[in-house]
Amino acid sequence: MTLTKFDLRGKVAVVTGGNGGIGLGCATGLAKAGADIMIWARNEAKNKAATELLRGLGVRAQSVAVDVTDADAVLRAVEETTQSLGGIDIFIANAGTNIRKRPEVLTVPEWDQIMEVNVTSVFHACKAIYPKMKLRGRGKIIVIGSLSGSLGFGISPAYAASKAAVDNLAKSLAVAWGPDNIQVNSILPGWTITDMTVQTRTIPSINEQILQRTPAGRWGTPDDYEGVAAFLASSASDYVTGVSIPIDGGFSNTLLIVQAPTQ
Ligand SMILES: NC(=O)c1ccc[n+]([C@@H]2O[C@H](COP(=O)([O-])OP(=O)(O)OC[C@H]3O[C@@H](n4cnc5c(N)ncnc54)[C@H](OP(=O)(O)O)[C@@H]3O)[C@@H](O)[C@H]2O)c1
Repeated sequence: MTLTKFDLRGKVAVVTGGNGGIGLGCATGLAKAGADIMIWARNEAKNKAATELLRGLGVRAQSVAVDVTDADAVLRAVEETTQSLGGIDIFIANAGTNIRKRPEVLTVPEWDQIMEVNVTSVFHACKAIYPKMKLRGRGKIIVIGSLSGSLGFGISPAYAASKAAVDNLAKSLAVAWGPDNIQVNSILPGWTITDMTVQTRTIPSINEQILQRTPAGRWGTPDDYEGVAAFLASSASDYVTGVSIPIDGGFSNTLLIVQAPTQ
């Protein structure tokens, strides 16, 4: 490799929700670039399977069974990660949840639950990790937002609002912590084949609308995130901060796909 800026060997990355879906896609990209991985997620069986898969790529991979909304557990996870892997260079805030309900039936406790996982836990974890990164003189934080953060989403109002909030949080952290050489950016996934979208994919009319509005003509897959995550985690992106990168096959950039008539 001559473009060594993409080399993540010797770096340690924490990926919340890294045991499947987009989180595992990001973790795989980082591991392929050489980073050691620590997964923070609740399901221990999935954690084990994901760490085994990542170890197969030749890196160290471990997990902590942690609910990111448990503030004390997150503080313990920061210490455990630092002790067992030697520090935290990269933090990917990926864990997320949704409750699909129209606003008139969504309850305030459900709203709070979504905000807690998708926004408050990210703020808390970033605050917990910041002193470690500041001490090392560098850091990379990647927040997983959503294309819904800039669009109305009638069947998921709390989710869309939470993703707008977390994307803006990334921008504010980028400004606040830029002088500490910590870059903070967002990835905005589009429609991607994961456990979160199982229901959506089974409704033919919605599936058809999604495909019709996506210039790439297909759903995203977790491996679509490998490259962008590795870039934002690497020194190749040292002068990139506070930006949001849609990974959505062109969905967010598209009003309507109209086939040009042949001449
Ligand atoms: N799929 C899409 O189309 C899409 C589109 C836009 C944005 N996104 C965003 O992408 C991110 C990943 O979602 P995904 O599609 O990959 O869904 P997924 O396969 O359901 O993954 C969600 C991950 O979050 C973890 N998680 C959820 N609540 C948690 C909690 N309280 N504490 C710790 N971990 C928790 C889950 O692990 P455990 O259950 O083991 O804890 C799981 O690994 C989310 O932020 C989501 O909003 C997805």
